[in-house]
Parts: sequence; C-alpha cells; structure tokens
Amino acid sequence: MKSVYFVVGARPQFIKAAPVLEAMKAFVNITVKLIHTGQHYDFNLSELFFQELNIPTPDYQLNCGSGTSVEQYVSILQKLSEILQKDKPDMLVVFGDTNSTGAASLCANLMRIKLAHVESGLREFDKNIPEEINKIVTDALSDLYFCPTQTAVDFLNKSNISGKIILSGDPVLDLLFANKSKFEDIKILEKFNLEKGKYIFATCHRQNNTNNRSALESILRIFAAAPLPVLFPLHPRTKKAIVEFDLSNYLEHTNIHIIEPIGFWETQSLIANCDKVLTDSGGVIKEAYFHGKYVIVLDKQTEWVEVINEERGFVCGPDFDLASKYLKHQITNEPLKHTLGKGDASKIISKGISDYLLGI
Ligand code: UD1
Repeated sequence: MKSVYFVVGARPQFIKAAPVLEAMKAFVNITVKLIHTGQHYDFNLSELFFQELNIPTPDYQLNCGSGTSVEQYVSILQKLSEILQKDKPDMLVVFGDTNSTGAASLCANLMRIKLAHVESGLREFDKNIPEEINKIVTDALSDLYFCPTQTAVDFLNKSNISGKIILSGDPVLDLLFANKSKFEDIKILEKFNLEKGKYIFATCHRQNNTNNRSALESILRIFAAAPLPVLFPLHPRTKKAIVEFDLSNYLEHTNIHIIEPIGFWETQSLIANCDKVLTDSGGVIKEAYFHGKYVIVLDKQTEWVEVINEERGFVCGPDFDLASKYLKHQITNEPLKHTLGKGDASKIISKGISDYLLGI
C-alpha cells in the first residue's frame, strides 16, 4: 500500500483538488489523506467549497491562518513537518501557486518525500509577485509535473528540470465539463437583481492591485464607469485595502454592486450569464474562457497566454483607458479550442500519480 497526502489551503486549491481526490478513489492500492493548512479559514473562502464540491473533511487541519508570506511559510513548514515525520507518506501532492503550495513543496523536499505538482510550468515572469515565487520553488523541487497547457510543458522542457512531465489539462475544467446543468440555471440572476447578458462580473484581490492605492483606485474607477452594472464579490484582502486607502466611497457607487465572496457554482452561473469579465484572478480568467466570455485582465500579465493568443481576452492591468476600450470589444466568433483542458485532467493526474508510485 502506498500513501499520498494532498495539501490544500486556499480557495483555488479546494477547487483543483476536488475532482482529483474523487478520481483517486479508482486506485485502491493508494491511501489518500488530505491536509488543510488553514491559509483560508472564512466560511465563504473554505468550508463552503468543501460542502459544494463534496470534499472530505481534512485528515489534518494545520490552522496556520493569515500573516506575511514568511509567517505563513514558517508556520506551514513547522506544522506540516511534524505530520510528515510521523506518517512518512510516499508522496505529497500540491496545487497551484499559493503560499501553501510553496511551503508544502519546500517541506516535502527537506523531508525527502516525493512531490507532485498540479498546475506546473506556468510563469508570469515577475518575481515581485508572491505566486511567482511559489511557482518557481515548487517547479524546482517537484518529481512529477502535471501541466495544464502545452505552453507549460514546453517551458518545463526548456528549463532542464529533472522529473516526469505530463500534459494533463486543468482539473477545474473537469468540474465544468461534467456539471453544465449546475450553471445553466438563471434563477441566480434574480437573487442579485441582474438581467442575462446585461452585467459585468468582476473580481480583484491580487497584491499588485490591493497593495497599491493608485492601482486599486483606477480599478474601482473602471468599475464605476463601465457600460453595464458591475457585480463585484469582494475578497477580504480587497475590502481591507479599500478601507485603509480611504476609497470606501466607491463601495456606494450605483454602478458597483458589492456582494460577499460566493461559492463555486454561483460564480460559474454568474460568469456564464454575464456580458464580460473583469478580473485579476487566474482561476476566473480560465473560467471566463470556458464559458466563452471576453475577459479583461486587471493584472500586468497572465500565465494563461492561450486566452490572449486566441483573442478571448486582453491584458489591461489597472489601466483605465485600456480597460474602458476593451469593455466595448466584441469576442471572436471562432469556436472555442479548449486549449486549457478537455475535461479529463483528474483522470490523467490520478493515473499519473498511481503509475509513478507503482513504478510503471
Ligand atoms: C491567496 C493566494 C492567491 C489566491 C487567493 C485566492 C498567496 C500568496 N496568494 O491570496 O494566489 O488567488 O489566495 O483567494 O498564497 N483573509 C480573510 N479570511 C480568510 C483568508 C484571508 O479575511 O479566510 C484575509 C486576511 O486579512 C489575509 C488576507 O485576506 O491577510 C489575505 O489572505 P492570504 O491567504 O494571505 O492571501 P489571498 O489574498 O487570499
């Protein structure tokens, strides 16, 4: 019997891990355990996703919580190493690029435990972004690389890393391909007083934007001046920044409809029925692509280059004029190529883990 420990901690990782955990059930010779670092702890950022996506209760809760990147790394390294020391699993599986990912990868390496990374090989090429550091650390240390795109595979091949590289696609898209009925329901629009195709779905929480007053103000101005009402689920980091930077007047603006962070299926329904998407979230960029919605990227770059190359989005950063221009843009009529995944990523990933561990 082999044992694999999945480490998750933040909202995007619960979503990526859910279909892979389910797919691992087919491999009866592998024991799977789940560790939650506690990086996200609010109900709407954590427990809600466990409930909606039927993720089993974690076997271990580290309760590491918020803090600086250094504090989060130190706390995760300390608490995770105690578990790994005691249980000695054969492999750790990490997802994406959060501080939970980077810290768990480092811990696995220091404790000589094999490491698999889901969402390998992506880069934003800016070392000021904490997620970029987590990507670099994890890709430097992994043994098994699951890449969402061919671009990611090509990047790793050029990087001379040692390990096995597998093109898997993105497991979040598995959830979307398999559950279309869950976001075809438009009752949700009544809940938020919206009309199909007549609103913009927006998110903003990346540190480049929330730690910089002029970037954040520019983004709020984009929302206020948008040609359609903007529905804006507000991340706690952004909420704090808006208050600290004395920008709270935008929260009262008639074109900006603030709501609490929402769950996965409500988010998908709201993206599927909107006109366009404004976001700095990598996850939401992918989801907009899947739903065929034009996405205006409020960050200076994106790792999801396929979306831009296929002219399904544009990188505007917090630039008011550029974003206002692209809010009027019409999306291409070309059929979607589904270059980010075809709905079978979790099958490929679970088989890849099993083959690696069983030496196939
Ligand atoms: C993290 C990830 C980011 C991911 C995002 C999804 C890193 C470096 N960033 O960013 O890649 O897109 O998760 O949301 O790991 N907070 C709460 N409640 C919570 C969690 C956080 O109020 O449950 C507040 C705290 O004030 C905290 C701040 O949000 O300081 C930031 O949280 P943190 O987990 O550090 O990063 P995110 O911005 O969520």
